[in-house]
Amino acid sequence: MRLSDVPGLTQLTLALAMTATFLPMAGAQEAIERRVNELLAQMTLEEKVGQLNLVSHGPPLRWEDISEGKAGALLNFNSAPDVARAQALARQSRLKIPPLFGLDVLHGFRTQFPLPLGEAAAFSPRISRFASEWAAKEAAYVGVNWTFAPMADLSRDSRWGRIVEGFGEDPTLGAALTAARVEGFRKGGLAAAAKHFAGYGAPQGGRDYDTTYIPRAEMYDTYLPPFRAAVEAGTASFMAAFNALNGEPSTANPWLLTDVLRKQWGFDGFVTSDWVGIGELINHGIAADGAEAARKAILAGVDMDMMGLLYIKHLPDEVRAGRVPESVIDESVRRVLRTKFRMGLFDRPDIDTSHLDSAFPSPESRQAAREVARETFVLLQNRGDVLPIPSSVRSVAVVGPLADAPHDQMGPHAARGHKEDSVSILEGIRRRAEGAGIAVHHAPACDLFCRNTEGLQAAVDAAKRSDFVIAVFGEPQELSGEAASRAHMELNGKQIEVLEALAGTGKPVALVIVGGRPQVLGPVAESFPSILMTWYPGTEAGPAVADVLFGDVSPSGKLPVTWPRATGQMPIYYNRLPTGRPTLPNNRFTLHYIDEAITPLYPFGWGLSYTQFAYSDTAIAQKQIGEGETLEVSVTVKNTGARDGQEVVQLYTRDPVASRSRPLRELKAFEKIALKPGEAKRVTLQVPVESLGFHLDDGTYLVEAGTIQVFVGGNSLAEPIGDAEIVKTFRIPPMERRASAAIGIVE
Ligand code: BGC
Repeated sequence: MRLSDVPGLTQLTLALAMTATFLPMAGAQEAIERRVNELLAQMTLEEKVGQLNLVSHGPPLRWEDISEGKAGALLNFNSAPDVARAQALARQSRLKIPPLFGLDVLHGFRTQFPLPLGEAAAFSPRISRFASEWAAKEAAYVGVNWTFAPMADLSRDSRWGRIVEGFGEDPTLGAALTAARVEGFRKGGLAAAAKHFAGYGAPQGGRDYDTTYIPRAEMYDTYLPPFRAAVEAGTASFMAAFNALNGEPSTANPWLLTDVLRKQWGFDGFVTSDWVGIGELINHGIAADGAEAARKAILAGVDMDMMGLLYIKHLPDEVRAGRVPESVIDESVRRVLRTKFRMGLFDRPDIDTSHLDSAFPSPESRQAAREVARETFVLLQNRGDVLPIPSSVRSVAVVGPLADAPHDQMGPHAARGHKEDSVSILEGIRRRAEGAGIAVHHAPACDLFCRNTEGLQAAVDAAKRSDFVIAVFGEPQELSGEAASRAHMELNGKQIEVLEALAGTGKPVALVIVGGRPQVLGPVAESFPSILMTWYPGTEAGPAVADVLFGDVSPSGKLPVTWPRATGQMPIYYNRLPTGRPTLPNNRFTLHYIDEAITPLYPFGWGLSYTQFAYSDTAIAQKQIGEGETLEVSVTVKNTGARDGQEVVQLYTRDPVASRSRPLRELKAFEKIALKPGEAKRVTLQVPVESLGFHLDDGTYLVEAGTIQVFVGGNSLAEPIGDAEIVKTFRIPPMERRASAAIGIVE
């Protein structure tokens, strides 16, 4: 279905979305620069600083700030009447500069799509683009024009609650999906803010806001590629991170904000701080007061102050005292105005106040959310093919607090999501079961946090009365997202006790996990033969989960993060470096734990289907590749089972001998394909030789001559299929390397 078919979206909105490409051609770019400079020349110092002030709806914002030119950007304005009022006030200001209206639109506006980490499990840039476009379209309909998304923070540590907002642990997947999200948002009418720049996903101990230590070469190789891809995809802005990176807070980090972002990558949009991030430089211990914090942030390259009110308060005096050159302010204002011109804000009519978010969810947005959600579910295990629910089943027990949790299924950052719009998992199962004459017995067993198990006996009774048990457990929304780091990643509360009792009934049982991160399953991985990870599936959780449980659709998601056995394994990730003492069974003095397996429970890229896929006839087209060339690897994938299915074909490489240790595996390309039973497809994956190197601390990219091992399969334990030789060592200076060279994604 096309977005243009959506009822309730006026021609005007569609036209605006289409013009808002934010990527002007050279001639248009010159015209924009002319308009920016003409406007800048008319501005007082106070008006300039006003453009750098980003304030939220409600106090401390005074509506007059807008007509006085003191608030160039606004956030949390999420209804058309509020946006229109602010637009009218901006028109009364001396220079009539239209404001930006920013909001956290991550995975939907009114209609909730799966959370980004779940969406990443679809392993599909097409799906990411589609979901982001929907989210943007709904938000733009009420006048929002800027989203604080996508989150491009790679994370290898699921203790960190915000892992749910990103794409997981892999830079290649992350770069592809970040670019797709930027494009989708833009297509739907929202400028993007790639956040949180940078290193925010690797806080010590998984503690949100804590400090991060990442060597520069590792930043370039692992943490920066998704941000770079955001630049290449045309993101309008960046958001600086809260954390200190190697002792230098990101909000005042000239290496990140100026050397890398502006000089090496040529980014000419603007950077905003995070919420009061500039003031927090005082807590970080690098500024004595607000004036010093503002000075350090602007000089490092933060153009906009989110909710700190420090730029507006201090920068005019800092300029007059000669501590901040006015040319620095001018450059920041240029970046903001350039973005506004690129977005077409000066040439747009004000928002139509009749545009209500209640136009959504529409039948079409629900269908879109359902289609996306069911692509994201990961079938972690399915011993004895317990799933899908066999057609012989006449009654199912639906147990668990998250089966009927319309609020929690939307996940964190649900923008204008209303729980009343949600179709719960219970409701979805009921609808599907009713049509097939299957009875549904519902029993929550415990409260939302599973502390009170008074309902357990009723749940066990319901299970005993039924042919099949679906247990829906996991993380309530409050345990995930910002400020939701966990030191214990076990299923919270008394879930284990309840699940063991259900498994003890001897009935066929399937566990459906809801949540924002892998959770430590303990004995449940043994006692439940079938486990389906559904993340936070959004508004249409119920129908999507029912589609998969009843086998109308085969699961096709793959893990974008490694799933641990124990919290103490964190951080854990597949693309780690080798050690001098690789794990040897029965040898204590090799890599291992004395009290836990060294391996994860499920590896990165893992996910089963209701059908099976056989890989054969792998071939590497060229045995040697030189500079500028692309390696082509082909494989035949056949659906050998009895159902339709989709498989994510994954290609990994390893450079076994280099001048520095290189990861044991690195994802370099992937393609998601659909196969009918018995159908085979020849898939060719491409790996530019330029993606086979690594960075030095100064950003130089080095591709060394030598042998590269190639692995192809359906997860990160893929089989080796041979190798290829890189024939010549070459270096690429930071400014000349394009991010897209690292992405070998076929769509
Ligand atoms: C978060 C950002 C978010 C901002 C505005 C902050 O607390 O870190 O990701 O965009 O709030 O809501």
